[in-house]
Amino acid sequence: MMTKTRRLIFWTLACLALIGILAAVSFSRQPLSIHARIAEDGGFMPASIKARVGEPLRLRLISDDVEHSFALGQSDLQPVTFKPGEPAEIELIFDKPGTYTFYTTTPSSLNFWRMRGVIEVSGEGETQISEPPLYVRLGLDLDGEHESEEEHVEWANQPSAERGAAFANQIPAAMLTSNYYVSHSPMEIFDELRRAPALQSLNDEEIWDVVAYVWEQNTSSAALVDGQRLYQTNCAACHGKSGAGDGQFADEMKAIAEKNNDEHGIQAPTDFTDAEHLLEAQPAKLQGLILRGGMGTGMPMWGTIFTDEQTWALIAYLYSFQFEYSQ
Ligand code: HEC
Repeated sequence: MMTKTRRLIFWTLACLALIGILAAVSFSRQPLSIHARIAEDGGFMPASIKARVGEPLRLRLISDDVEHSFALGQSDLQPVTFKPGEPAEIELIFDKPGTYTFYTTTPSSLNFWRMRGVIEVSGEGETQISEPPLYVRLGLDLDGEHESEEEHVEWANQPSAERGAAFANQIPAAMLTSNYYVSHSPMEIFDELRRAPALQSLNDEEIWDVVAYVWEQNTSSAALVDGQRLYQTNCAACHGKSGAGDGQFADEMKAIAEKNNDEHGIQAPTDFTDAEHLLEAQPAKLQGLILRGGMGTGMPMWGTIFTDEQTWALIAYLYSFQFEYSQ
């Protein structure tokens, strides 16, 4: 009798233990739910997540209103879109500790770029030590107007790097270094080339071709392709597909700017096809503006999102709204 009861107790306990273990295992495999609502209604919830190096982080992305997407800074994850009633599940594994920013690339509302959150990844491994960005090292004032001696830029043909290449061997070597490129605006190199004795026989349009050539030397076709992809995904909603400052939110931002008339408040998105504006900005300054954002103008900050390489690719791509590149 006794043994039978004992056996029953043993098996009951064994079964309960097994159920417990199975429940614990399946619970730990449960993905973490992240709800998304347009920025004005709260954005991502939770907006702060913890993870450990090397351990898979499973997320279930649930939309409570319209279509959204989940993108992760400092990674090559392609944005994952999800709609109401159609959650998406993803698994992330981090190989370095640090703070990663997640964000949306779907222009779900005017403030869509405010939909951001962080993943704090702890564990072994070197954290990325970031140097201060170039605009800080160069001491640039990001909020000042871009400056130049030249007032008007007019050309019948878009400056062409290919035509400029014909004069390649007459360009002073100092102007072909990457240090020169990052710290000078196209307008400044135009002025310097205009004064260069070797180029006295060229007309202004030919000098602009040389400027386009020098700018092309500082990028690569791979970077331009990458820059184009990043631009179309992250910037076109405001700056427009062709850079003309006419993205889907442009009219709304322009109307707010005109109504408020506040230089620190919302502005119309910059038109990169406007030569006088873009050609007066040096790459280091554009880098600063992209990393830091406009602080209230409606231009988001991207510092935690793009790698250095991606930021330079974006900058190179912006100038291609002015220059015709052969590659
Ligand atoms: C939500 C709208 C919005 C998005 C998205 C956006 N921008 Fe902007 N951007 C603006 C506005 C508005 C301005 C003008 C005000 C200012 O300069 O802060 C601006 C200005 C800029 C400037 C400064 C231009 C100059 O010469 O003064 C740069 C460079 C720029 N944006 C690059 C980008 C890039 C690159 C992206 C994508 C990675 C991007 N922007 C995405 C709204 C946006």
